[in-house]
Amino acid sequence: MYHNPSMVKPKRRGLPPHVLYVLASALGLGLLVIMWNVYQLKAMQEAHFIGHGPYPGAQVAEASGGTVDSYRRPVVWIHAKHVNSGYLKHVMAVFERAGYIRGDAQSSWDVLWAHDYPFKELSAVMATLKPYQKVNHFPGTGYITNKVYLATSDIAYIPKAFQMPNQRDAFLLETKQNRDTLWVQKSSSHRGIKVKSVEELDLYAPNTFIQQYISNPYLIDGKKFDLGFYVTLTSVDPLRVYVLHDEMLVRFCPTVYNPIDFADVNKYVVGDDYTPVWKMPSLQKYYQEYNYNFMETMNAYWRSKGNDPEHVYRQINEAIRGVFVSKYPQLVSSLQRHENKRVFFELMRFDFVLDEELNVFLMEVNMSPNLSSAHFTDNIHLYERVVYNVLSVNGVARNVPFSLKNSDSKERGMQVSMKEILVKSDLCSSKSCSTCEQEECRICYKCLQPPQKMMLQDAFLEHNNRRSMRRVYPEAITHEQAKNYDISSDGSLHENDQIMREWFAAKCAQDLSYCQ
Ligand SMILES: *[C@@H]1O[C@H](CO)[C@@H](O)[C@H](O)[C@H]1NC(C)=O
Repeated sequence: MYHNPSMVKPKRRGLPPHVLYVLASALGLGLLVIMWNVYQLKAMQEAHFIGHGPYPGAQVAEASGGTVDSYRRPVVWIHAKHVNSGYLKHVMAVFERAGYIRGDAQSSWDVLWAHDYPFKELSAVMATLKPYQKVNHFPGTGYITNKVYLATSDIAYIPKAFQMPNQRDAFLLETKQNRDTLWVQKSSSHRGIKVKSVEELDLYAPNTFIQQYISNPYLIDGKKFDLGFYVTLTSVDPLRVYVLHDEMLVRFCPTVYNPIDFADVNKYVVGDDYTPVWKMPSLQKYYQEYNYNFMETMNAYWRSKGNDPEHVYRQINEAIRGVFVSKYPQLVSSLQRHENKRVFFELMRFDFVLDEELNVFLMEVNMSPNLSSAHFTDNIHLYERVVYNVLSVNGVARNVPFSLKNSDSKERGMQVSMKEILVKSDLCSSKSCSTCEQEECRICYKCLQPPQKMMLQDAFLEHNNRRSMRRVYPEAITHEQAKNYDISSDGSLHENDQIMREWFAAKCAQDLSYCQ
């Protein structure tokens, strides 16, 4: 190649220095901006997702003030002893998936999940609750979960019991009449129970009760078991109660029952070291091979023996209903002094045993049921579904990422407006309801008081968000019954409870999902 000498002027390769400087500074600046962004992003993530405890899957983020995000996101305050030790990890996991960040007493919290009953320890907080807040215990539920109160309350499905020492005489009379009955002595604090002869019982021990022992328990592969049902109380006035309808906890005694020896509690008491369904020879195949859940496993077993599982669940629903109806006066009066009555909800576990004839007996009701999967990881699914379903029906786990505090009336309106509570449209537009004098018109829109409209909206939302929870109170009725519903049949109930029942019946006439 020929070069023109004039063009062979030595020339530096590359760009002139000033261009290079500009480029380098631009690149440097760009890098700085990227680094800043990464730093910011990390800081934001850390602010929200600082984990607690050794369970990466179960971390609930920390509430941090200031950012728009934390202003909108709902905040849960989890109050418990050793809160990060693991027994609440499934509760935390569900809250985190529902969009919650974790706060404390000082934060602007939406939901308080207290493992222990908070009304004494947190009395200052309980006295200043805001209308939008939610607390996972009702005042007065101790009347249900306290073993002495429950057992000695003369409620159907609960074995006969006598409070010591004040029902001692009645107890002694009973033992004379029924010499073959076996008895257990229990206290409200002590978990252990033991069958004893009448001579061995301590008829003077304060705060205890003596209860009839169910001496012909239903056995599977020779073992006694109990059934745990998860129940949520969503409202007291009016009373509304739901139960998880498609799953239950099933726990077997570790040792075969016969020959019975009451010195060995592993034969007749279900403890932490229970035998799970998948270790039971007659149930294994349903649970493992067919992949049934605990409830379907039991149903399949009962059907194989010619028993009707519905017979069991009917009694269980009745027993749950009976407990709340029986304790209703105490629940209402405990709630009286609280200004915001819609703040509370409660999760409880009802434990039942069965006798040979599949008669159901309610043994106890647990406040803050154990949701720790430390022994059995197979229970994770059940426990997280329990928490999710309970939070959902109570309006705490929603698909709306705003905090409860910052929810406005439009947000509620997209979920429920005054239109959805409308029932009995023909009657309400008729001449006979042109005034509200007729009792049958009381659930027409214009005859309802504002708090009653709110309570029907709440019932509507619960119904829509109930997932696998089913209403046990007010009891669901059939479409036929709903069409012929007699409003005068509820005379003994409080007014709000009458309206509540009547509305559910009228809804069932309109929409089959409200029926049995
Ligand atoms: C809850 O259950 C776990 C394991 O299933 C057990 O280790 C723990 O002691 C139980 N806690 C209570 C308070 O019963």
